[in-house]
Amino acid sequence: MAARSAILGAGHYVPSKVVTNDDLTKLIPSTSDAWIQERTGIRERRIIEHDGIGASDLAVPAAKMAIERAGLTIHDIDAIIFATLSPDLTFPGSGVLLQHKLGMPQIPALDVRNQCSGFLYSLSVADAWIRAGVYKHVLIVGAEVHSTGLDLSDRGRDVSVLFGDGAGAVVVGRSPDPERGVLNVVIRSDGVGAHDLMVECPASKYMPRITKEMIDEGRIWPKMNGKLVFRWATEKMPEVAIESMEKAGVNVDDIDLFIPHQANMRINQFVAMKLNIPQEKIVHNIDRYGNTTAATIPIGISESLGEGRLKPGMTVLFAGFGAGFTWGASVVRW
Ligand code: UT7
Repeated sequence: MAARSAILGAGHYVPSKVVTNDDLTKLIPSTSDAWIQERTGIRERRIIEHDGIGASDLAVPAAKMAIERAGLTIHDIDAIIFATLSPDLTFPGSGVLLQHKLGMPQIPALDVRNQCSGFLYSLSVADAWIRAGVYKHVLIVGAEVHSTGLDLSDRGRDVSVLFGDGAGAVVVGRSPDPERGVLNVVIRSDGVGAHDLMVECPASKYMPRITKEMIDEGRIWPKMNGKLVFRWATEKMPEVAIESMEKAGVNVDDIDLFIPHQANMRINQFVAMKLNIPQEKIVHNIDRYGNTTAATIPIGISESLGEGRLKPGMTVLFAGFGAGFTWGASVVRW
């Protein structure tokens, strides 16, 4: 049987500063703890302690934890894939910043810009690299600093209550057992939804890229057509999960743990219901961290491993949907 890739270790890091829903109402008086909990399942989120902390800084402890749990050192890593929608700088990407901060050898650092699906897109690339024998150990990091980019006023309430800062990481390498590892990754996109979840400015198509008017009009903040995104997510996540399970030759009863992207607890409950996955098999962290975009799934993996909830031999399903639109799913035999 051909070589498979496997997730050899996982880690995560969230900043220490907790912002509860009640804290947010001081800035956004027209929202409430009751609304946020009822519509999203979020109770609190973490944000960076002070100005000057970027996605690559959150990635450092998450990456170290993943590498250590894989039983490796930074010198064993052959490539970095860094997924984020909130890079430290416009360019270069956060991957090279992480390479330098970790003092790694001059390995390649690839930046992935697929937002909430960033982890699954990264896993697809890492899996192909490992199976093709291009690299032995690939570090994937999903890390986000949302808190510096949210409209914390009544105007931005539909989006700004959702997001939090955090990082998750995994090390992907060759599976020691051909029966185990990443069975497949399915990724999709449809740009028809590009303008239904986006940050418009600054943009290279405008001269200049940023103006005072753009700032005053709030075009620098994320905008979302929430109901439309909700509808697409609850349709596409089950669809792609079924495709991934079929390709992997497993059925829904074989799934021991479902680690979905964390955009809204109601979305995940709905998706699980559509797929016939019992609620107790779903991993949630949105209540504590909000939506950490590319970091949600690797944080979920890392926490599940730490809690002993994710064990060898289990069949695990990942699924996500987000801006682009982009979406994907993967089945992994642990
Ligand atoms: O990971 C990226 C992908 N993102 C997603 O998957 C998010 C998908 N969408 C959602 O999760 C939901 O659509 C939201 C949580 C964003 C909104 O929940 P909803 O149940 O779809 O609410 P809604 O947009 O239908 O809004 C209901 C009401 C509206 O007021 P009216 O028109 O009924 O008077 C909103 O203006 O709630 C109002 N509202 C709020 N009220 C208090 C919207 N945001 C807030 C808020 N606090 N933060």
